[in-house]
Amino acid sequence: MNVAIDQTEDFDQTKAENFAERLGEMLNTGATVVMISLGHKLKIFDHLADMPPSGSEQIAEKTGLSERYIREWLAVMVVSGIVAYNPEDKTYYLCAEYAACLTTDAELGNMAVFAQHTSLLGQMEESMIRCFKTGEGTSYGDYPCFHQIMAEDSGQTVVAGLFEHILPLVPGIQARLEQGIDVLDAGCGRGAALLAMAEHYPNSRFVGYDLCADAIDFANAQVKERKLTNIRFEQRDLTGYMEAERWDFITSFDAVHDQKDPQDLIDGLKMSLKSGGTYLMQDIGGSAKLENNLDFPFSALLYAVSCAHCTPVSIGQGGKGLGTMWGWETAETMLLRAGFRSVEHHRLEHDPMNVWFVSQV
Ligand SMILES: C[S@@+](CC[C@H](N)C(=O)[O-])C[C@H]1O[C@@H](n2cnc3c(N)ncnc32)[C@H](O)[C@@H]1O
Repeated sequence: MNVAIDQTEDFDQTKAENFAERLGEMLNTGATVVMISLGHKLKIFDHLADMPPSGSEQIAEKTGLSERYIREWLAVMVVSGIVAYNPEDKTYYLCAEYAACLTTDAELGNMAVFAQHTSLLGQMEESMIRCFKTGEGTSYGDYPCFHQIMAEDSGQTVVAGLFEHILPLVPGIQARLEQGIDVLDAGCGRGAALLAMAEHYPNSRFVGYDLCADAIDFANAQVKERKLTNIRFEQRDLTGYMEAERWDFITSFDAVHDQKDPQDLIDGLKMSLKSGGTYLMQDIGGSAKLENNLDFPFSALLYAVSCAHCTPVSIGQGGKGLGTMWGWETAETMLLRAGFRSVEHHRLEHDPMNVWFVSQV
């Protein structure tokens, strides 16, 4: 894509018409994505994947939803080329290949999970107008279902690859977790990654801190349900956090860039590690330079999430609002500035959006 500014003198009619066509496609795509999010939340894709070509009444019965609404939703899916339609017997069908991208435990990852972010952006429009006009921020409580969406998102990007791809980035950590060490997850949200580790490594002790009480309540309910005794979650504002030489291993999954002061948090985490400890930090892998992000996967989505969520929640905490695309270079600079002995970064094939930093004390 060319970012150079084109200031030709003559109005180019064809260029305008092509752009209008492209905008039309965007309108269709945007509307479809909101409907994909709805289909995901109502589990319609999961039901469709289990069904042979079926009429809207059968689909309504199987999903337990209103036939009239199901039929209208199916029409969106048909004209968008997601669901096949046979006009002769009025049946609808989701092929196995498309189900592999849109259902729970989908073979290729459930892209419908990410559609929820777009849907949430729309719900935030009024708040955004206020933020743009006043320069003020938002709080996490302003975002309906944020922690549910984030937990599903990180369920795919973090939990699914945790033991096979992510922990192996830290030399020797799996053996140490087997033996028994103290682990903190900073900004844990609903805590799915930490819960998975606590189940897998019964000799280690795990603590998750997060600002949001609703996310912590959800995580603690999971602790009870899974009858785990080596993990606890606590509601805690990490602004100014430091517990000197308390942890062997600290993780944060997509939880630094939208803090009030990311450098302050990283400094505090570094000081809270014992000698020989490691900080594993996942964050968004885009560049700090806009021009480097033109081909970065999902960059428009990420900048939009930044505009409507990550920037205003940081500003809402009195922070700088570095944004989702603060850049891996910024993250690396902050880690080095915190004084870690070594800082390495990695990219993982299953997760093109993120960068993984392994920093040793
Ligand atoms: C993008 S979410 C990631 C949540 C979780 N790590 C995951 O992967 O699902 C960022 C998290 O940081 C938490 N957070 C933001 N500011 C915080 C603060 N000042 N203290 C503690 N947690 C904070 C939010 O509540 C939110 O759960």
